[in-house]
This record gives sequence, structure tokens and C-alpha cells, in this order.
Amino acid sequence: MHYWSSILGILRKVVGADVIVTAVPGQSRTGSIASRASELNRFLERKANGRGINLMAHSMGGLDCRHLITHLKPTEYTPLSLTTIATPHRGSPFMDWCTEYLGLGRQRSDTERAAAAEIIASASASAARTSTAHTSSPKSSSPLSLSLSALPSSFTTLLLSMFDSPAYANLTTSYLNTVFNPHTPDDPRVRYFSVAGRVARAASTSGTR
Ligand SMILES: *[C@@H]1O[C@H](CO)[C@@H](O)[C@H](O)[C@H]1NC(C)=O
Repeated sequence: MHYWSSILGILRKVVGADVIVTAVPGQSRTGSIASRASELNRFLERKANGRGINLMAHSMGGLDCRHLITHLKPTEYTPLSLTTIATPHRGSPFMDWCTEYLGLGRQRSDTERAAAAEIIASASASAARTSTAHTSSPKSSSPLSLSLSALPSSFTTLLLSMFDSPAYANLTTSYLNTVFNPHTPDDPRVRYFSVAGRVARAASTSGTR
């Protein structure tokens, strides 16, 4: 994201802070909050050993950090603060929609998974056709493929790549509100900040707030 480079520049040049940057490694990207947090913890034990650190996290990374602070209780370094940017602390209604209609994140049977994968694949194909043919409304009897074909095909491809991943299961509103939040209280020694963006209602497609 472009704003990271300016944030980094300000922190390094203006504040004079020592900044350590990391991203979730490839295979772990769609992992559960717990596995992503362990990975981050191992990284920080190496890179920030013996130091106090201010964590800044984007999106799901904010949940990883909350889990790390409260449950992994790091001893090799000391978290002083956590600033989350656009983190879905209360879950993403969009993920709920995926769970409801596509069974994503529900660890379904192979047959159901294959069927859902086919629906997504054909929906992205029809979306591609629709955009080249200038057809205003795709003709389909199924409300599911109708709404799916309204999504850009790159987006449905992204959905497929995250198919049934633990990351999905960890981002629904019900999981966050009934399991994660009650079991992950803030650590009183850490200062928490949250930065969120708002999108005009009509323009909003993703549920992340
Ligand atoms: C995330 O989801 C997985 C299942 O996919 C679950 O095992 C795990 O407990 C959840 N929570 C966290 C904090 O990772």
C-alpha cells in the first residue's frame, strides 16, 4: 500500500525511529490468526531481542498482533503499543457472506468445495464475458451467480486462492465477536490505537471497516 512508504519515511527520517518491516510469509498468509502470530513472534524474537517495540499493523495483521500480545506474552522483547490500520476487529460482513453463500471457511467436504469452486470459476468467466459484451445485466436464474458475476474476475480469483483457509474462518463477525474478542482482552501494559477508514455506503463492496 502506498501509504506505507510515506509512513516509513516519516518514522525513519522525522521521528528517527528504528523501523523493522515484515509481511506474513507466503504459505502462512491464509493461515489462522494463531499460526500467523507465532510466525511474527519468532521473527520479532530474532529482530527485536531485548527491546521495547511499537507495533503497527495493517488489516488482519492487527488481529495477529492482538493475539501475540495477549496469548503469546512475549518475553524476548516488550510490546509497548499497537496501532492497527483498517483492522476488522469486529469481523467482516463480507466474510460472513462468503461463509453463508459459498461455504468458505467452513472446511466443507471435497465435493462441496469442488462445486463451489466451479460456481466461482463460471461466475468470473461470465463476468469477463459481460464486461467485453457491454451487457448490462447478466441473465441468470441463480441469485448467487448474479451477485458473484458482479465482482471483478481478479477478485473472484483471489477468493479462490483463499478458499477454505483458516484466515477466512477467523474473519467472520460471529467468530470475532463471540470467540476472539471475549478471549483476547487488551493487555493493560500496552497502549492500543486503531485507525479506520470509512467508505460511502453506496460505494462499499468489501465489508472491512
Ligand atoms: C482460527 O481458525 C482456525 C480454524 O480454521 C482455528 O483452529 C483457530 O482456533 C482460529 N483462531 C485463531 C486465534 O487462530
